[in-house]
Amino acid sequence: MKELSFTTKVVHSGRKDDRAFKSKATPIYQTSVFSFDSLEQLEGYFEGETPYLYTRNGNPNTDELAQVVAALEGAPDGVAVSSGLGAILAGILAVVKSGDHIVATEDLYGGTYHLVKEELLNLGIQTTFVSFADTEAVEAAIQPNTKLLYTETITNPFLRVENIPAVVELAKKHQLISIVDNTFATPFLLQPYINGVDLVIHSATKYIGGHSDISAGVVTGKQELIAEARKRVVNMGLNLSPFESWLACRGLKTLSLRMERQSRNAAEVAAFLQAHPQVKTTYYPEYVSEAGKGAMVTVELIEGTDMSRFFSSLGWIKIVPSLAGIETTVSYPKGTSHRSLTEEEQMKLGINERVVRISIGIEEAKDIVAQFKAALAVSR
Ligand SMILES: Cc1ncc(COP(=O)(O)O)c(C=O)c1O
Repeated sequence: MKELSFTTKVVHSGRKDDRAFKSKATPIYQTSVFSFDSLEQLEGYFEGETPYLYTRNGNPNTDELAQVVAALEGAPDGVAVSSGLGAILAGILAVVKSGDHIVATEDLYGGTYHLVKEELLNLGIQTTFVSFADTEAVEAAIQPNTKLLYTETITNPFLRVENIPAVVELAKKHQLISIVDNTFATPFLLQPYINGVDLVIHSATKYIGGHSDISAGVVTGKQELIAEARKRVVNMGLNLSPFESWLACRGLKTLSLRMERQSRNAAEVAAFLQAHPQVKTTYYPEYVSEAGKGAMVTVELIEGTDMSRFFSSLGWIKIVPSLAGIETTVSYPKGTSHRSLTEEEQMKLGINERVVRISIGIEEAKDIVAQFKAALAVSR
């Protein structure tokens, strides 16, 4: 496609044409397998003449999702996976094998932390966790068997914005592969592949889908690494269903509109919270990109706040242990995303019972602010 602006690409990239009936929307290819009229035709699949054999190996809907996200990241290829965590597994195993070592950021998403600390360790893959805010510490953690630097563009729950050029420089210097989870930023804000990251991963469950109605993931990046990731998806059965791929593509079409609106709302809510006497600290990025700062705001409320009262006084703002839907929601990192960390690990990251992560939706900003104001007033 001729170089189009981001939002036009969101709407038009990757669509699978329906030649038979010319449907405007991509049909849902809800089939587990494809059929052939002759042995020659079947052989043609293996020769690359026809694209589909069996949905675990590939399907027009999953390919559409992968290709759109890859186009938005500026990457040549991608593969859709059954969840964000599945995408992280496929991406990491595209790079490392038993005996290899990973250096990962210490403020990693909890699910990724358990994946590497438990499952990958059982497969003989070791990980060192280190603060990626400290480039020297990252470099010091690199061992002769290190293959991978792994981090996130915007971290959870304190929304630290990663220094991607520094990560890329370090990876290049030590001939390592870099993987970045871009879930919180989305390609609307940041496109790490363009800055030299090798693989970029999304939990499409979040902003890509945007409507809290699917579990899905996508890995995008260098062709040869995506070929490896795709092999893991096929061999390990990590494929995404055609229907969920279709829902993800449908949700994705409004990514720019949602991100613009949600980011604008987030700026207003963050300003209100920052100035509120019951808010000890507001975590809201100073800068992410020219496109905005994203739609997440995290706060630590002051000591003595009745947290139970606060959470149950939020009315239509529900407690939801996820993010990125069109509705404003709050999550409680200590009790959900970071629940399985020890008290000491939680303290080290700064997570206590007064930390609240807010995912800002598309409602009117003044209504969101009014709801937080009311909840804070009764929880003093
Ligand atoms: C940054 C990040 N990456 C990955 C995941 C995992 O995604 P999924 O729940 O789709 O497996 C999450 C889920 O919350 C996340 O926040």
